[in-house]
Amino acid sequence: MVIRIAAVGDVHLDEDVVGRFRPALEQLPGSVDALLLAGDLTRHGTEAEARCVAQEFGGLGVPVIAVLGNHDHQCDQVPQVVGTLEEAGITVLEGDGVVLDCPGGRLGVAGVKGFGGGFAGRCASDFGEPEMKAFVRTTTESADRLSEALRSLDCDVLVALTHYAPVPDTLAGEPLEIYPFLGCYQLGQAVDAAPTALALHGHAHHGSERGTTPGGVRVRNVAHPVIKQAYSVFQLGDHLDQSEVSGVAAGGIQQPWS
Ligand SMILES: [Fe+2]
Ligand SMILES: [Fe+2]
Repeated sequence: MVIRIAAVGDVHLDEDVVGRFRPALEQLPGSVDALLLAGDLTRHGTEAEARCVAQEFGGLGVPVIAVLGNHDHQCDQVPQVVGTLEEAGITVLEGDGVVLDCPGGRLGVAGVKGFGGGFAGRCASDFGEPEMKAFVRTTTESADRLSEALRSLDCDVLVALTHYAPVPDTLAGEPLEIYPFLGCYQLGQAVDAAPTALALHGHAHHGSERGTTPGGVRVRNVAHPVIKQAYSVFQLGDHLDQSEVSGVAAGGIQQPWS
């Protein structure tokens, strides 16, 4: 049993980017079971930019499953952004999940945008001012939603999809000072509380590709500026013997942009 998924995040689409991913995306049908988008699909979260995402990632002939990122919230048009993506057939997850019946088995994807907060020994705590408590509450509620979604799915292979990072490993390369704004340990705990095979995230444009949760789940930062290709492909098998299949050469996409 083999399930193959393609993934990319932080494509930050606007009109000037439309068409740059498409040639590589059109190679997906027949070679992967799904494409996962790890947030920051737009630059400022406008409905017009969402239409660009719909144009680029809609009608691909493979299921497309996304979470939003912080950029997709910038203009407070989240309902319009989600509506535009859903109209194009893109499934947008936020604290929920989906199970796809693939030839190689049932693929479960649970997704949430996530939030910052930091990692062990260097994290925000639920103490003091109401603003700080509200910040940490946002973090924990988001991680709780991911945990519930992961545990609710009846599937053969389980994938966690977030924008913010669940571990610090994949932030290596980013300034230490901003780690608390790039992810939180609570997302990692959620990943570890379920039989997750792979955790995918974006957001850390200057981070690195590979990490592992404390429980041993493989984590991959698929932010476009990190993977430097239209998408990465992951193979998920019977024995959780995941491997990055490639480096799919992404036609025309050599330089990352943010
Ligand atoms: Fe981004
Ligand atoms: Fe981001």
